[in-house]
Amino acid sequence: KAVKKLAIIGFGTVGSGVYETLIEQRNKLERLIGGPYSIPVVLVKDASKVRELSDNTEVTDNFQAIIDRKDLDVVVEASPDAEIAYPYVKALLQQGVSVITANKELVAKYGEELLTLARTNHCRLFFEAAVAGGIPILTSIRHTLKSNVLEKVEGILNGTSNFILTKMRKEGTSFETALEEAQAHGYAEAVPDKDVDGWDAYFKTTILSHWIYGVAPNWQTEKPKGVRGVNVNDLLIAETFGGRIKHVASLEKSKDKVSACVEPRFVLSDHALYGVEGVNNGIHVQGNIVGSLLFQGPGAGKFPTASAVVEDLINFWTGTSEEEPVSGIEFEKMILSHSEDDS
Ligand code: NAP
Ligand code: HSE
Repeated sequence: KAVKKLAIIGFGTVGSGVYETLIEQRNKLERLIGGPYSIPVVLVKDASKVRELSDNTEVTDNFQAIIDRKDLDVVVEASPDAEIAYPYVKALLQQGVSVITANKELVAKYGEELLTLARTNHCRLFFEAAVAGGIPILTSIRHTLKSNVLEKVEGILNGTSNFILTKMRKEGTSFETALEEAQAHGYAEAVPDKDVDGWDAYFKTTILSHWIYGVAPNWQTEKPKGVRGVNVNDLLIAETFGGRIKHVASLEKSKDKVSACVEPRFVLSDHALYGVEGVNNGIHVQGNIVGSLLFQGPGAGKFPTASAVVEDLINFWTGTSEEEPVSGIEFEKMILSHSEDDS
């Protein structure tokens, strides 16, 4: 069988996690896709850094080395932000090369344009890892909640912020020390302000709004609110009132508008997100048929994120992902237009 070849852009927490998973789980994954794969090239910022690679992988800092290859099936993109990734991903999709990205800023800012480009060039853009790390939330919503209308979605979407709040409350750790620990674990963004000022959750909420409702959200505040201003005392006082302060992202649909908010919120002990602790993320959805569902699991980190990327890769190679699934609002419009036709 012909060898499937992929490249990886970015070899930090996520890129190296994907690489190690593909090397260590090779036998099982090759059985799943029905043939062999290899990783001939990895793109980084500084090619002179010492890295652990096998598989005859070349390390380059020159994107041309990737775009000039005509033998790549797909590229995994795990660079730090939208401005770095956008020109790479655009050039790849224009050449008809599919991309799997973990970069939520890229998808929130340029997702619509890139998805159109992918369709035009008969290739795919996948981004399960961009929202809630290892939790397969996008796939679950699209593939297993199609017939439900999701009126409301509430989530803890930033692992770093939840890790910091949990550490401060349980151990009295200072904000700065807890953030340093989150960075040491590889949870935080390269610019951690994006985590603690709410932007990372803002990007993920934007993606969820497009994914579930097919529209950009109406933001309730000019900017998202992060956990930077929360102190240990606030967290302890919340406990004396029988609740916790959590960093909550919410989406609420009314008619064809979706309102969104990202902020630290006081939640009581019977709230779905109260028990979501540490680096975990949680997404609570209320489906009109299924009722209340809570998706919970690691929202950041090397292997949880690699898991989401590798699942996208397997779905791509085996063709087991829907080409054009309908979003909630499109689905409702379809139902409404059919009932108008009937009358
Ligand atoms: P990271 O550890 O900081 O690694 C970033 C990688 O990108 C490094 O290998 C770096 O190269 C490379 N890079 C930087 N500038 C580049 C450029 N101009 N061209 C090519 N490569 C460049 O970041 P990360 O934590 O893996 O995150 C990567 C992406 O995944 C981000 O978009 C993040 O939001 C997303 N994500 C992260 C997590 C997580 O838990 N960390 C979870 C979900 C999604 P050098 O090695 O040479 O410096
Ligand atoms: N910095 C992000 C977080 C990584 O802490 O949630 C996962 O997207």
